[in-house]
Amino acid sequence: MNDMLSKVLETVSYINQATRNFQPDLAIILGSGLGALANEVTDRIEIPYNEIPNFSSSEVEGHENKLIFGKIYGKSVVVMQGRFHYYEGYEIEQVAFPVKVFAILGVSNLIVSNAAGGLDRRFKVGDLMLITDHINISGLSPLRGPNTAEFGERFPSMKNAYSPRLIELAKNAANSKELKEKIELKEGIYAFMPGPQYETKAEIKMLTTLGADAVGMSTVPEAVVAKHSGMKVVAVSCITNMAAGVTDNKLSHEEVKETA
Ligand code: HPA
Repeated sequence: MNDMLSKVLETVSYINQATRNFQPDLAIILGSGLGALANEVTDRIEIPYNEIPNFSSSEVEGHENKLIFGKIYGKSVVVMQGRFHYYEGYEIEQVAFPVKVFAILGVSNLIVSNAAGGLDRRFKVGDLMLITDHINISGLSPLRGPNTAEFGERFPSMKNAYSPRLIELAKNAANSKELKEKIELKEGIYAFMPGPQYETKAEIKMLTTLGADAVGMSTVPEAVVAKHSGMKVVAVSCITNMAAGVTDNKLSHEEVKETA
C-alpha cells in the first residue's frame, strides 16, 4: 500500500470511530468568511482538525478549523469549516488531502465555495459566480507523484470537472421563486493562482486574455482530486473584490472578508 493511501485510511478510521460510522453523501468546503453555512448543520458531530491524524489546520483569519458531520435539509453532510491553502506552505497534495478522505468515506458530491477577485467587468462586488470550468497555469497538481489506483486513473480527464448536472441544479435553485430576488447567479471560469500575493495588473490582463472571469487561491486542488476520484463537483465563487486594475480600489483581505 502506498504512503498516501495508508495515511488516508488512518484518517478515515479515526473519523469513523469519532462519528460512529456516519456516512456523508455530500461534502461542503467553505471559503474565506463563508463559514456561516456550517451553522445550518443539525445532529452535528464536530471534530477539530488538530485532533484528526494527518490533517493540517488553516491559519488564515476567517477560517474555523473543524469538520462538522450532520444533516442539512435532510442530506447527510460533512462540512469543512476552514480549508488549507498552498500559500500557507502546505504541499499541494496536502491541500487536497481531505477530499481523498471524503472519497474513501463514500462521499459522492462536493460543493465548494471560495472568495475570488472579479475579472469580468459585468460582475460587481458581492456577486456569486458558478464555476463552469477552471484554468490552472500554476504548474501545480495535487495528483503529482505515484498514482493511487484506489482513487482513480493515472491520467484523469478534467473535461466536465464541474458537473453539468449539478451546475444545472444550482442554476435552477438560483432561479427558483424563493431565491430569484435574492441571488443573481453569474457564471464563469475560475483561474487558480498560488498566492499569497494578489495579482499584478499585467497578470490580471493575461488571465482575462486566457478567458478567466474570476481569480482565486483555492478550490482547484480540491476539484482536481474530487474529479479524479469520480465525485461530482459544484463550486461557487463569491466575488469579494474586483481584481487588480479592473477597478481603482485598493485590494485587501479586510475587503475580502467583509464582502464574504
Ligand atoms: N485574487 C486572488 N485571490 C483572491 C482575490 C483576488 O483578487 N480575491 C479573493 N481571493
